[in-house]
Amino acid sequence: MSDVAAIEVRGLKVHFANRSGTGAVRAVDGIDLTVARGAFHGIVGESGCGKTTLARTIVGLQKESEGTVLIGGRDRAEWLKSDRKSFSREVQFVFQDPLGSMSRRQSVYQTLEEPLQIHRFGSSVERRRRIAELLDLVALPETVLDRLPRSLSGGQRQRVSIARALALKPSILVCDEPLSALDVSIRAQIVNLFTSLQKQLGLTIVIVAHDLAIVREVCSDVTVMYLGRISEAGVTRPLFREPAHPYSQALLSAVPSPDPRIEAGRRRIILAGDPPSPSAPPPGCRFNTRCPVAIDVCRVEEPLLRMVPHGGVAACHLADSARRPVI
Ligand SMILES: Nc1ncnc2c1ncn2[C@@H]1O[C@H](COP(=O)(O)OP(=O)(O)OP(=O)(O)O)[C@@H](O)[C@H]1O
Ligand SMILES: [Mg+2]
Repeated sequence: MSDVAAIEVRGLKVHFANRSGTGAVRAVDGIDLTVARGAFHGIVGESGCGKTTLARTIVGLQKESEGTVLIGGRDRAEWLKSDRKSFSREVQFVFQDPLGSMSRRQSVYQTLEEPLQIHRFGSSVERRRRIAELLDLVALPETVLDRLPRSLSGGQRQRVSIARALALKPSILVCDEPLSALDVSIRAQIVNLFTSLQKQLGLTIVIVAHDLAIVREVCSDVTVMYLGRISEAGVTRPLFREPAHPYSQALLSAVPSPDPRIEAGRRRIILAGDPPSPSAPPPGCRFNTRCPVAIDVCRVEEPLLRMVPHGGVAACHLADSARRPVI
């Protein structure tokens, strides 16, 4: 059983009716993704490419239009139908906005006790002990317990929401931009918290993130999305060193390198225009309308994911296991 992936997404599509009711917004449009147990998996890409929809669908907050999600080898849809409680003991979601995901009238103590009560965890004394452990895990003092979420700092609130997610000892955390509501100065602390929790508890973490420097620092693996699909994926370090897809090359060119020699030669690639609408992706490669190296085939044939030199995969006609296009 140990080699069963924590999360396996197969042929996933999530389409929404668009505002005019005339077509579909293809927010997620055919995704296959494997997250190994114990991985710290980053999902990146421009605004609107479907990251939140993918994350929400993995945990069942959003229903898929097509495809399946397996959690530890079990079909997520079936699992939720037959035993929602045991599913939510295994998989938890951390929201972008901690305040929005908590009741404004509940103290921190009540916020942390609620999942324990719902899952009939122990006596009130045992729950109190578990809440003390949770505070310890996220490095919050007991003095926060009587406070209301809005009286806490942004960093403290995110710590409370992480503690709440950990209350039932899940093995998987899926987090939608858990850092973006925080001041830059606090982000590093929460990033450190995630990495130490992952090691301490052996968690599998999927994190949607905008800040690529943070992804490079903490994520073992990374998936780059473009317009509802995966454009590139692989192990973070080699992928950041030699991104194969022109889209990743452009995205990563904006990230300063910690290596002064690489930083001195860094060339910023600015992409023209915005991504096309997910209601009407262009024919061929979805990126062709903005790709500086597109050739004829890119405008007619959609590239499949293929092996590329960094050892991961990219969906680009010009990349294969021996070469990568360089823009
Ligand atoms: N409930 C919904 N109904 C209709 N369209 C939706 C819905 N949720 C998302 N969308 C659309 O699906 C697309 C993908 O949205 P999503 O929120 O998943 O992107 P994202 O990558 O998380 O973006 P961001 O970086 O801005 O958070 C967008 O075009 C969005 O407008
Ligand atoms: Mg989002």
